[in-house]
Amino acid sequence: MSLPVHPRRSARIHLNAFAMMCAGHQSPGLWRHPEDQGFRYTDLDHWTSLARLLDDAGFDALFLADVLGVYDVAGGSRDAAVRAGIQVPLGDPMMPVSAMAAVTSSLGFGVTVSTSYEHPYALARRFSTLDHLTKGRVGWNVVTGYLESAAANLGLGAQVPHDERYAQADEYLDVCARLWWDSWEDDAVVRDVAGGVYTDPSKVHEISYHGRYFDVPGPFLCEPSPQRSPVIFQAGASPRGLAFAGQHAEAVFVSGPSTEVVGGQVSRLRDAVSDAGRDPASVTVFAQLAPVVAASSAEARERYESYVSAYSREGALALFAGWTGLDLTGIDPAEPLRYVESDAGRSALASFTTDDPSREWTVDEVARHLAVGGRGPVAVGSGAEVADQMEAWVDETGADGLNLAYAVTPGSFAQVASFVVPELRRRGRMPEKPEPGMLRERLAAR
Ligand SMILES: Cc1cc2nc3c(=O)[nH]c(=O)nc-3n(C[C@H](O)[C@H](O)[C@H](O)COP(=O)(O)O)c2cc1C
Repeated sequence: MSLPVHPRRSARIHLNAFAMMCAGHQSPGLWRHPEDQGFRYTDLDHWTSLARLLDDAGFDALFLADVLGVYDVAGGSRDAAVRAGIQVPLGDPMMPVSAMAAVTSSLGFGVTVSTSYEHPYALARRFSTLDHLTKGRVGWNVVTGYLESAAANLGLGAQVPHDERYAQADEYLDVCARLWWDSWEDDAVVRDVAGGVYTDPSKVHEISYHGRYFDVPGPFLCEPSPQRSPVIFQAGASPRGLAFAGQHAEAVFVSGPSTEVVGGQVSRLRDAVSDAGRDPASVTVFAQLAPVVAASSAEARERYESYVSAYSREGALALFAGWTGLDLTGIDPAEPLRYVESDAGRSALASFTTDDPSREWTVDEVARHLAVGGRGPVAVGSGAEVADQMEAWVDETGADGLNLAYAVTPGSFAQVASFVVPELRRRGRMPEKPEPGMLRERLAAR
């Protein structure tokens, strides 16, 4: 496989923390490990202290994933996912954000919301409100969803077909952009006490949007927020997903088991950005990685083994089946995986099959790979060793930073803050201290 066509142009490594409002995000079953505090996800204090930790350590953002259904593809039942705590029970990721913003000064917040299940007029207002309350530190991870169970519960019966979901998302983003950018002029709010005018009506405009999926006359309800629009993140690397990212994304999450796979995703993504007439270097790409760090290599290795021993194979297969639509339960563990097209997500399965034909994955190898941190690699070692692996990963893939999945929370992030961040700073790959500013400016720094 060839190296990425678009080489990195900067020493800087952006850091993003990857979490979800549940007890079991990307490391199936690790809630059983004594170090894990993920079960505290219903305490606001769990989130505010995590946010403070990340802010102090100079992370660019905390990214909260979300789904709107249970993982019920494996074995045709929800039981495995429910038993193993696979992204259920699950709360609403927007709720803790304003509290986290109140106790931090630089950290950004990426919130995942699907374009398939709620109206853009209502969602655009929620993001504008959060952008005000965070003083311009909010991002939106735009997803189209992959679970039939979500579609069933939200009144659609079945999912809209894969590529059409992206067509709908294109239009959804157009509606939002018109509401955020074209409805209210910068100086619409005048607060003229003597004249009795709060807002000048001539500076608030209808958007008169008539599309295939949405009709939105406007005007918007919110006055312009600090960034006007949340930073648009995206995370689907199928051909249609890449075309969508090329048009809209300001930051992109990629994920795969090897630098070959992820380098290919980054390269195709930058091509798609270029095809859409934009500068490919302007998009900030985060590659997923799960760090397992300790004071020494031996301790880190021991820690990693203790994580693996807590993992749930049944949970891993439930997770994988939900992402890909492919049910591997009951299949011979030594059976090699093959790509099949589905209406679930496509890039997750491609990253273990067609993205790197030279590497064949068996069912058991995939389940085991997902044990710690999901689809990305695991970096195990001392601070210096993990910093080496992080540097290698971004330099070899052409990504701009890393999306760090946790094995245990907040422990995995605390390990990075204590052992790895000082090392990356010493090497000139992170700024000496967190830089103030809005999320968009922060991510643009190279
Ligand atoms: C790092 C990463 C995080 C993702 N987070 C979510 C998420 O929180 N919710 C979701 O519905 N999809 C999520 N996805 C899935 C994608 O956004 C996308 O919907 C899925 O990959 C299907 O698109 P594709 O067929 O283009 O790959 C994530 C993907 C990646 C790589």
